[in-house]
Amino acid sequence: MKTFSQAEHETWRRLHARLAECRATMAHPLFVRGLDLLGIDGEQIPELDHVNARLEALTGWRGVEVRGLEDGRSFFSLLARRRFPIGNFIRDARDLSYTPAPDVFHDLYGHLPFFADGDYAAFCQRFGTLATHHATTPARLVQFERLFWFGVEFPLVETSAGRRIFGGGILSSLSESAYSLSPEPEVLPFDIEQIRRQDYRIDEIQRRLFVLDEPISLYRCLDAFVSALA
Ligand SMILES: [Fe+2]
Repeated sequence: MKTFSQAEHETWRRLHARLAECRATMAHPLFVRGLDLLGIDGEQIPELDHVNARLEALTGWRGVEVRGLEDGRSFFSLLARRRFPIGNFIRDARDLSYTPAPDVFHDLYGHLPFFADGDYAAFCQRFGTLATHHATTPARLVQFERLFWFGVEFPLVETSAGRRIFGGGILSSLSESAYSLSPEPEVLPFDIEQIRRQDYRIDEIQRRLFVLDEPISLYRCLDAFVSALA
């Protein structure tokens, strides 16, 4: 991984500090546990090698450094090999709420902790394998991208303690976190028939979200999703 400057580490510290309440009261416990298991904290941008040593021992997944946004096919083929792309830059300190592409905070803080969980890790590898298999059909690739968006980046989930955030796209953003659990967004039951037809915008706050009844419903949706592919 490239060497980050002290100013870049400071950006990480500020982003991490802003999300303290989110971790304490809004995030699903699986995410918080993953941060702890992987040693991802607010001190500085973690060394990817150190995080990978822990993650590989747990589930065989690794983060791999990339320069920017992977296209759909190469992204899903990484998942199929238990690799998750990690942006090798951090957003500009002048606007912490904006990043032009997935950066190290979004990818390493928002996504990697989930892969410390064996069931989640197996689900995402299978997701990648199936999406890669269908990626030569553009209409099918779009449907997998929608499932990734609403099932991996932006899902909510019900728990016995209340509704929690279960997606890296929300958890790595202060504004998305607060908004997602406010009365503002339209929250619909997690439904693959609707999700595979549901368009989305990556450049504005997510006004329509889907809520899982439990994480296992996400892990188990793939067979029905593949059967329903148009
Ligand atoms: Fe992401």
